[in-house]
Amino acid sequence: MAKTLKTFADPQKLQKWCAARRQAGAKIALVPTMGYLHEGHLSLIAAAKRKGADEIVVSVFVNPVQFGPNEDYEKYPRDEKADLAKCRAAGATAVFFPTPANMYLDGHSTFITEETLAAGLCGARRPGHFRGVCTVVAKLFNIVHPHLAVFGQKDFQQAAVIRRMVRDLNFDVKISVAPIVREPSGLARSSRNTYLSDDERARAVALSQSLARARADVAAKGTMPWRAYRAKIVKVLEKAGLVVDYVEAVDAETLVPAKSLSKGVAVLLAVWCGKTRLIDNAVM
Ligand code: PAJ
Repeated sequence: MAKTLKTFADPQKLQKWCAARRQAGAKIALVPTMGYLHEGHLSLIAAAKRKGADEIVVSVFVNPVQFGPNEDYEKYPRDEKADLAKCRAAGATAVFFPTPANMYLDGHSTFITEETLAAGLCGARRPGHFRGVCTVVAKLFNIVHPHLAVFGQKDFQQAAVIRRMVRDLNFDVKISVAPIVREPSGLARSSRNTYLSDDERARAVALSQSLARARADVAAKGTMPWRAYRAKIVKVLEKAGLVVDYVEAVDAETLVPAKSLSKGVAVLLAVWCGKTRLIDNAVM
């Protein structure tokens, strides 16, 4: 029998319920999201289930603190009703829909900054972004106190930053990272894909295609100098009409830039497709 799905808006009520469930011996998993759920998010719920969680708490919160002043906070897509139905179908047991006012009380003045892994890549292009992510995720950890929290590889740098925060601040939670879920075309699923026109959607496929090509080239040829290979990727992306934000190869753990492309190296891409910023990545 499927459990009924509980919904919470008040952090204190959720905190109380989670504490009682933990006390009763339930294994609690947290899946943090900003909603407008798609199969990528649902795969995280499925992963929590596979890992034996008794309670799967999905948070749906468009976190204002992680958006820059000229970013898409206002127009970020939202659909609570559909999200609730998807959570129910996927086997979540609780959904948390807080409001900005009850997550950030008047005069909120405490933030968490990870200073190394968050410095480059998206952190360099989106100042304050990971400070906002770390702060909200730390708050969610304190509210839910999950045994396990599941994130997606889609946001490769985010997962690395969260892992580091958990280690550095002794959070009592296991972090699990689930693979990228893609559309049949190869495009990584994202709530922001809803911004794309048909034409942009077709052009955006160049992201996953260049990553697949890089993986195949590394498998066939082994190690290759990154500078020359990077130029090749940039050319492919630009030919598709995408504006490159960054194309980087990094050590998958430390995010330190790699000099050559080889097995185990992560290639991270961020581009502008019209007015939409898209990211994708693959480990070679
Ligand atoms: P959001 O973009 O909604 O993503 C929530 C989680 O879903 C993240 O861990 C993300 O990596 C994962 N995810 C998104 N698309 C995916 C895909 N195609 N395949 C697999 N996983 C995917 O990331 C955030 O929200 C926020 O920064 C958050 C962590 C919730 C903090 O506000």
